[in-house]
Amino acid sequence: MTEGSILVTGGAGFIGSHYVRSAVTKGCEVVTLDALTYAGNLSNLDTVKDVSNHRTITGSIADRELVAQLLAELRPTTIVNFAAESHVDRSIDGPDAFIDSNIVGVFVLLEACREHLKCCKNADRFRFLHISTDEVYGSIEQGAATENDRYDPSSPYAASKAAADHLVRAWSCTYGVPVLITNCTNNYGPYQFPEKLIPLTISKALQGERLPLYGDGLQERDWLHVEDHCRALDAVLSNGKTGQTYNIASGETRSNRAVIEEICAILDRLSPRSDGNPYRTLIENVADRPGHDRRYALDGSKTRVEIGWTPEIAFTAGLTDTVHWYLENGHWIETSRQKYDGSRLGVIAQRG
Ligand code: NAD
Ligand code: TYD
Repeated sequence: MTEGSILVTGGAGFIGSHYVRSAVTKGCEVVTLDALTYAGNLSNLDTVKDVSNHRTITGSIADRELVAQLLAELRPTTIVNFAAESHVDRSIDGPDAFIDSNIVGVFVLLEACREHLKCCKNADRFRFLHISTDEVYGSIEQGAATENDRYDPSSPYAASKAAADHLVRAWSCTYGVPVLITNCTNNYGPYQFPEKLIPLTISKALQGERLPLYGDGLQERDWLHVEDHCRALDAVLSNGKTGQTYNIASGETRSNRAVIEEICAILDRLSPRSDGNPYRTLIENVADRPGHDRRYALDGSKTRVEIGWTPEIAFTAGLTDTVHWYLENGHWIETSRQKYDGSRLGVIAQRG
């Protein structure tokens, strides 16, 4: 675990809130900076709301003045940057926010780090950990992408994350900012906003709604439990070499159809439908996502060998626990779904 205070950006979102809860519980001094977009939810941080080693500040990583002020006041030894617009479909509907948060926001953070390092007493210990995604490598026909593979992003989301990774590397090479980059595969687990495949499927199934499967449903993703991801991030902070990139993968690859069918089978056991029909009868093939990447796969051997991290949660066990969590947290899903419907309607209205 890191020493000194940690600034976690995007800490009210899905992965960030897991990271914050875990770091605060371990006794770290944590400040969360989050713009509280539709995906940010302060109730994700309820368990660490009233503790002396955590506070939350509402604001954007793209706000230069705020970020500079915060670093000057807080003097963090670690910044973990989760803050981003994160949903591919939204990036297709309206890419502007992805450029602002994912590219300009990272630029602002890097410039603030550069300034901070000039007067930072513990500059040798300072780390900027940037959280990125497997999507930067694009669709992988065969094998798995290594950290040295060419970036080939397909969606506006993936392109914005790729651009940010390039900025982070450049600020390391040119200005010596001590950065670490992690590229992770698809996460799942509690508190994931119900616009992503797994929580969307669970929440729609529980409402008896159709379960949309894009195209032929044979696209493949590697699924990693969010707690395994957060453990990997701590291991990279402890053992990673600055300037380096680390892929984080579970190796648990499934087609989208297989994932939805597995959720349906778990729900059939845990919460059978009142009409006696299996949940899988709700699956509906819908139009494909434009530019839909067929397959993501990462070679995670560098992280396993050099960092000494391996995932602990097998997909079926993690998915079953996740379904349990959504069954027990109906209120959380309900409030998130209201935000989902409202914000999607906003996007559609903008498109005219
Ligand atoms: P999320 O959408 O659940 O959370 C993002 C958080 O960032 C929200 O709390 C939001 O309010 C905040 N945010 C957005 N723009 C901001 C800004 N300009 N300033 C401050 N806060 C802002 O996303 P997530 O799934 O938790 O993803 C977190 C990070 O991990 C992202 O950078 C994403 O690219 C990366 N990632 C996600 C996955 C995944 O499967 N979810 C996989 C690999 C990498
Ligand atoms: P998603 O959870 O949006 O993550 P990402 O696009 O970052 O991989 O989608 C996961 C996969 O599931 C992706 O191939 C698109 C597909 N998908 C569906 O088939 N139906 C849906 O309703 C959604 C949201 C996604």
